Amino acid sequence: MQQLQSYLEQNKDRFLEELLDLLRIPSVSADPAFAKDVRKTAEFIQQKLNEAGADNVELFETDGHPIVYGEKIVGEGLPTVLVYGHYDVQPADPYELWDSEPFNPVVKDGKIYARGACDDKGQMYMHLKAFEAMMHEASLPCNVKFLIEGEEEVGSDNLEPFLEKYADKLACDIVLVSDTSMISNEIPSVTVGLRGIACVEVEVTGANRDLHSGVYGGGVANPINVLSDMIASLMDENKHITIPGFYDNVVEVSAIDRAAMAETPFDLSEYKNDLDIDDIQGEAGYSTLERTSIRPTLDVNGMWGGYTGEGFKTVLPSKAYAKISMRLVPNQTSDEITALFKKHFESIAPPSVKVEVKPHHGGEPAVTPTDSIAYQAASAACEHTFGRKPIPTRGGGSIPIVSLFKHILNADTILLGFGLDSDAIHSPNEHYGLFNYYKGIETIPYFYDELVKRS
Ligand code: BES
Ligand code: MN
Ligand code: MN
Repeated sequence: MQQLQSYLEQNKDRFLEELLDLLRIPSVSADPAFAKDVRKTAEFIQQKLNEAGADNVELFETDGHPIVYGEKIVGEGLPTVLVYGHYDVQPADPYELWDSEPFNPVVKDGKIYARGACDDKGQMYMHLKAFEAMMHEASLPCNVKFLIEGEEEVGSDNLEPFLEKYADKLACDIVLVSDTSMISNEIPSVTVGLRGIACVEVEVTGANRDLHSGVYGGGVANPINVLSDMIASLMDENKHITIPGFYDNVVEVSAIDRAAMAETPFDLSEYKNDLDIDDIQGEAGYSTLERTSIRPTLDVNGMWGGYTGEGFKTVLPSKAYAKISMRLVPNQTSDEITALFKKHFESIAPPSVKVEVKPHHGGEPAVTPTDSIAYQAASAACEHTFGRKPIPTRGGGSIPIVSLFKHILNADTILLGFGLDSDAIHSPNEHYGLFNYYKGIETIPYFYDELVKRS
């Protein structure tokens, strides 16, 4: 480990330069205009895996963006870690809210500012550099397989069939992912649960054309008003979701586990300060940490219709739209919740409008055990580099492929993330601390070591 640490120290600057190069390629998976750049990013990863010493590095074509694979098999009887990450990023809009350009990374106050700096290029690239170091020092103690995809931010649709098709190739004892956050730079944590997600788009249609809001206003349904009413009715005064059956399969977390969660450090005034809000809100009877991890939610992600251009245009729009996502917890499933939403939403539409509900992508929740060898290895690894044991936490975000790793590969996932909730992922001025980048690279080899020791 001594030699490894000095290799990391000596190559620090290059590790950063390479990440900045990676961040310069705008791999926005959602927008076809960036398809060439997405591919360039896959090729970048492919090249770096090769340079680091991985074998059988290959770019697999899919119906969408390519998947990068590489491996190093050092011994038959040794454990195999499948490292998963994603090289695609969210769109950078709105560009005008960035203090520097999203795809021209800058390092300021010890942080790298760029789209993807934390989610997930920065976190994923730590694994390549840790691997490079272990290869260079001939200290890779077990087998590693890399699976780096380019469609996580759009639902990983092509990864499921890939897992099915290549289940033998991807066979592993544990999946290792850095794509979540920890409590703070002083208090490490390992994420042991992720929420699922169900995404739907709704369209409400009133009259067959936009109407003069003076001539028809008051007499004909305004789809935006109607849609607002309908959305407002989806939650009651306790911020409880009103869709019949919505909570039927929700597993209530035990009082013991809730008491443990209540011990997790959380500073409400810091939370409010960071977001510049005077108060929080949420489901009655649950803490903020609970509301954002073990409870399901329903949120409008976007809503549009009518005239939003310069000045004013007095119309009753013909149509109104919204994109709505619901975060799910065990044992809700995205198909079941999507169906319940559709049925309910159609049922509450007044006869003055027509409603269409279009299901989008979804993903299932996942919970990983803490009594496993792999969890203990992650815990010991953090103890080496942070000087204290990590706290197990349930995350609020979704990584849909994690539940499929369990179902298709029969492998649990260790979510060893080094980001912070304040890193502004998916937002303008996304950033990732240099401390976090280097700490991750330093911690990962300990995970391998501790895993092998315990296997
Ligand atoms: N890395 C995030 C998920 C995440 C972030 C989990 C922070 C826990 C803490 C991931 O890239 C992501 O954004 N996932 C999407 C999934 C969706 C597009 C299907 C999400 O959660 O919205
Ligand atoms: Mn991510
Ligand atoms: Mn993301």
